[in-house]
Amino acid sequence: MNRVESDITEELARLKASGLKRELKNIQGAQGTHVRVKGKKEPQLLMCSNDYLGLANHPEVKSALINGVEEYGVGAGASRLVSGTMAPHSMLEECIKDFFDAEAALLFNSGYNANLGIITVLAGRGTEIFSDRQNHASIVDASILSRAKVIRYSGLDSLERRLKKSDAEKKLILTEGLFSMDGNFADLPELLGLARKYDATIILDDAHAVGALGEYGRGTTELLNVVAPEIIRVGTFGKAFGTFGAFVTGTKELIDLLISKARSFIYTTALPPALACATLKSLELIVGGQALRAGLEENRKFLSDGLSNAGIDTLKSESHILPVIIGSAKKCTEASKRVSDRGLFIQAIRPPTVPEGTSRLRVTVTAAHSKEELGKALTSITETLQQSYARLSDNGEVV
Ligand SMILES: Cc1ncc(COP(=O)(O)O)c(C=O)c1O
Repeated sequence: MNRVESDITEELARLKASGLKRELKNIQGAQGTHVRVKGKKEPQLLMCSNDYLGLANHPEVKSALINGVEEYGVGAGASRLVSGTMAPHSMLEECIKDFFDAEAALLFNSGYNANLGIITVLAGRGTEIFSDRQNHASIVDASILSRAKVIRYSGLDSLERRLKKSDAEKKLILTEGLFSMDGNFADLPELLGLARKYDATIILDDAHAVGALGEYGRGTTELLNVVAPEIIRVGTFGKAFGTFGAFVTGTKELIDLLISKARSFIYTTALPPALACATLKSLELIVGGQALRAGLEENRKFLSDGLSNAGIDTLKSESHILPVIIGSAKKCTEASKRVSDRGLFIQAIRPPTVPEGTSRLRVTVTAAHSKEELGKALTSITETLQQSYARLSDNGEVV
């Protein structure tokens, strides 16, 4: 065994011993409120998907994809700068730009790539990045790659103190709109005030809110009544849109610069055009999706109230992301197994995704869940935590 091979073995053993080894769970069929999990007799109730509006398996979205394949084939052939921008790519960019009332929009292959692109283009040596401590790994990775100085903040006071001290010419504030793991909202109006006061630019990653929140689904800016054309928005189609891919909106000049300089846009094969066709359909459903969003809100409230009445800690989340905090990684893995024994599919979220000691069952609600399903989820989670879970040690063992 050479050094690389022995390191792989050792690292896997270390991950396993600390409860941090990740395992893929095979499911059959499409995303929906129920999935068939290998080894389980009955379908499991899926309570951790980001398909917030239930569009991932929507008949009209599926038809749009199939028709898109008929018309445009499967692959995009190369990067758009090489083999050409296909009609669905530009149509979707046009519609996204109009939807967010922005000057321009650019598609990326995923939210991860979008953050990598925008952050590395705008930040470099000499830039100071002010990044919320809760930010997603893609923002963290992009910030490191940019070679900018990264200052992590938690809370507005901490941000203002750091902004005040900064003498950098270029300042970027990076935040999610709705934080993916705690389900809390960024205080966008206050952030905007600070950005304006200290001449900083906000990049808002609204991955978990676009489509799902706001009267027309424009996300946290719409929900919180923030009108600020200077905010650069990143969004993904992989969550409420139910498809795949992502976008950045901003000024025409910003988008022109990204086309010339964003390596995660330039050096990768473009999104399959049929996916853009499917996303155009999702966007249409989202624009007219008031009933879907009202259903999501009703479901969120139902489960959130139920969990809090049962005394379960969800970090006071007021969104469709309800973190049920467990503690150690091993205990959380065991809790995930136990809810699975009661028919629920909820993965354990452990470090480094969340801070040490805050491993959790990240419960998500979608518009597609019925009250009956949510009632079952509530009972199963409550019983797991109140009965069997109380007898688990931090090692995930029964005591
Ligand atoms: C806040 C945030 N940004 C970006 C991403 C990445 O988006 P995508 O899944 O499209 O790569 C995610 C989730 O995956 C996310 O939670």
